[in-house]
Amino acid sequence: MSRHVVVTGASSGIGAACAQAFAAQGDRLSLGARRVNRLPDVVEGAFCHALDVTDASSVEQFVAAAIAKHGPIDVLVNNAGLARGTEKIAEGTGEAWREMIETNVLGLLEVTRRVLPNMTANGGGHVVVIGSIAGHKAYVGGGVYCASKRALQPICEAMRMETLGQNVRVTSVDPGMVDTEFSIVRFHGDEDKAKQVYKGVRPLVANDVADCVLFAANRPAHVNLDTILVMPTDQASPQMVHRAE
Ligand SMILES: NC(=O)c1ccc[n+]([C@@H]2O[C@H](COP(=O)([O-])OP(=O)(O)OC[C@H]3O[C@@H](n4cnc5c(N)ncnc54)[C@H](OP(=O)(O)O)[C@@H]3O)[C@@H](O)[C@H]2O)c1
Repeated sequence: MSRHVVVTGASSGIGAACAQAFAAQGDRLSLGARRVNRLPDVVEGAFCHALDVTDASSVEQFVAAAIAKHGPIDVLVNNAGLARGTEKIAEGTGEAWREMIETNVLGLLEVTRRVLPNMTANGGGHVVVIGSIAGHKAYVGGGVYCASKRALQPICEAMRMETLGQNVRVTSVDPGMVDTEFSIVRFHGDEDKAKQVYKGVRPLVANDVADCVLFAANRPAHVNLDTILVMPTDQASPQMVHRAE
C-alpha cells in the first residue's frame, strides 16, 4: 500500500537517497529543503515545498501543505541536519553552535511535534530520525555536533513512551562516515578540505543509509527497530579510520 512519506533535507545526500528509495517502491513523497529548486530533480512528481527547519512558520507551512497534498503522514524521515566546523570547544563560536543545535535538535522537534498528532489521529505512523555515530561517541572538534546528535536519543526514547499504544514507531538510523555534501557544508564550502575526510577510505554512500531506513520502514507494523548503527567497514569510531596508502 502506498504510504505518504515526508523527508526533510531532501535536496542532497541521505535525504535525497531516502526519497528516491521510497519513491521506487511506489510511496507518495513530500520533500522539503531550503534549496527547493533542487527538489523536483530528486524525485519526479514528488510534492516539493520550501522548508527551513529552524523557522517555525516555514515548518508549519511545509507540514500543512504536505498533508493538504498527500493526506495523513505515514512516515517522517527527520534527516535535515549539519555540522559546522571542527573547532575545539575553547575555540568554537556561538554562531556555529547555535546553527547545529537549532537545526539538528530544535528543527527536528519543530517538525516532529507538528507531524506526530497527525499520525496518532490517523491510526499511527513511523518517525525515523537520522542520528549519527557522533551521538554514540564524541570526538575532538566535534563536541557540539556530537551533543546535537546525542540529544536525539532521549528524544526518541521519550517519543516511544509518549506514543505507546498508538501504533507509532520511532527508529534512529545512526551512520558513520557517509560521502555526501556533509563535509563541504562543515568546511564552509571548502571542497579540497572536504575531500581529505574521505581520502583513502571507502565510506558509506547515501544509498547505504537509505537501505537501512527502508528496511526499518518495511518491517511489519508490530516490529520497531529502535536504533540502527551503520558504519563503513573501514571505520571503527568517529576518528579511527583505516586509510589505504
Ligand atoms: N555524511 C555523514 O558522514 C553523516 C554521518 C552521520 C549522520 N549524518 C546526518 O545525515 C543527515 C543528512 O546529511 P547528509 O550527509 O546527507 O549531508 P548533506 O548532503 O549536506 O545534506 C543535508 C541536507 O539537510 C538539509 N538541511 C540543512 N539545514 C536545513 C534546514 N535548516 N532546513 C531544512 N533542511 C536543511 C540540506 O538542504 P538545504 O541546504 O537545501 O536546506 C540537505 O538537503 C544529517 O542529519 C547529518 O547530520 C551524516
